[in-house]
Amino acid sequence: MSALAVQSLYKIFGNRADEAVRRLADGAPRAEALAGLPATAAVVDATFEVRPGEIFVVMGLSGSGKSTLIRMLNGLLRPTSGSVRVDGVELTSLKPAALRKLRRDKISMVFQHFALMPHRTVAENAGYALEVAGLPKPERRERAMEALRMVGLTEWADNLPHDLSGGMRQRVGLARALAAGTDILLMDEAFSALDPLIRREIQDQLLELQAELGKTIIFITHDLNEAMRLGDRIAVMRDGRIVQIGTAEEILTDPANGYVAQFVADVDRTRILTAASVMEKPHQVLDVGAGPRVAAKALRDTQTSVVYVTGPGKRFLGTVTEDEVLRALRENRTNLDGHVVTDQVRTVTEDTSVADLFADCAESRHPVAVLDDRGRLAGVIPRITLLSALASATPDEPAPVEPSPAAPAPADLDAAAGKEMSA
Ligand SMILES: Nc1ncnc2c1ncn2[C@@H]1O[C@H](COP(=O)(O)OP(=O)(O)OP(=O)(O)O)[C@@H](O)[C@H]1O
Ligand SMILES: [Mg+2]
Repeated sequence: MSALAVQSLYKIFGNRADEAVRRLADGAPRAEALAGLPATAAVVDATFEVRPGEIFVVMGLSGSGKSTLIRMLNGLLRPTSGSVRVDGVELTSLKPAALRKLRRDKISMVFQHFALMPHRTVAENAGYALEVAGLPKPERRERAMEALRMVGLTEWADNLPHDLSGGMRQRVGLARALAAGTDILLMDEAFSALDPLIRREIQDQLLELQAELGKTIIFITHDLNEAMRLGDRIAVMRDGRIVQIGTAEEILTDPANGYVAQFVADVDRTRILTAASVMEKPHQVLDVGAGPRVAAKALRDTQTSVVYVTGPGKRFLGTVTEDEVLRALRENRTNLDGHVVTDQVRTVTEDTSVADLFADCAESRHPVAVLDDRGRLAGVIPRITLLSALASATPDEPAPVEPSPAAPAPADLDAAAGKEMSA
């Protein structure tokens, strides 16, 4: 079952909301549909499900309806129409007291400008939700301290917020949500006010925590790179509507429309694309039990200079070059055992980011071998494939790929690879 499910959700501010919903229901853009109505459509026909343990990012420009959407997920705002279910419970059917209980037990929220209470210590701030819930002081303290440990602020527990930097204060906000012990966290631009380096650090920390805790997180941001780093899946909002939901890779490689394509046009795609998404089927794979004659034929047939060799369980062992095949033939060997070398190709795993592939590709004499989690040869990446994959990942117009600062430009790569490369 999904942790959270939203169906045909609308939020209209202003008057004649029902008429507004009717006009929007057939998919018309909100400016057109609401012309002449004294109403603002903040969220239009949103439908999605969030799985338990997932980081679900909602991304969109200012005014696209992100905050309105997230506030309906914990009942802070009442939908104009549609349904929100948390663990199967329909929120729109709950009375205010039940909604408050839900916010206490099931869903915590972290905001952008997290308001800490200036005259209470960091630990008291972290345990605030528990104080509201009426927990006795020792238990509050214990859970607050545990949450502060998770975000790395143990030593600051008895300081006042005033002593903390912006990034640390934001971590107190996160600690408060963690101390509450809810399964679902809503984070509305929680890191947006932080400067880029601090922001990256706290993103890393969230990912680490998530690996340990497995919360269900709905994370709102207008920053594409943040969305791509954090999101298991990303929903892109525009003018109140969700225009696409997918993994970072899906959104990059297959944007649903021109708007999404434009939005993602300047992302550093080398950090998102993985080896698995650019690899090719290897031309020549032989079992180590194959004889040198078979290997020689394989080389001739494909006009390549190397075969990829696998052993028991199809695990990748290494390569046999043409010179070695000749030697095996001369020595009348019956198989390739003893002729396999491991220094001719580099190996990477399927989830290696393309940004991290450049060095391997440059240093690998033959196409890089991509191994799956059981060490089997999943594919190979010739240098030219890497470069053309980057070029074709640019959506819509086939604009030239701007080399990102993180990755060497194609020209540099050639220079780095030198004349040795034969891929
Ligand atoms: N209480 C309200 N009354 C009237 N209109 C509102 C209200 N809250 C939001 N809106 C309007 O709804 C639309 C969506 O606003 P919302 O705050 O959800 O956007 P957002 O994507 O969170 O933007 P930002 O990135 O700036 O936070 C905007 O046009 C906004 O002006
Ligand atoms: Mg907002």
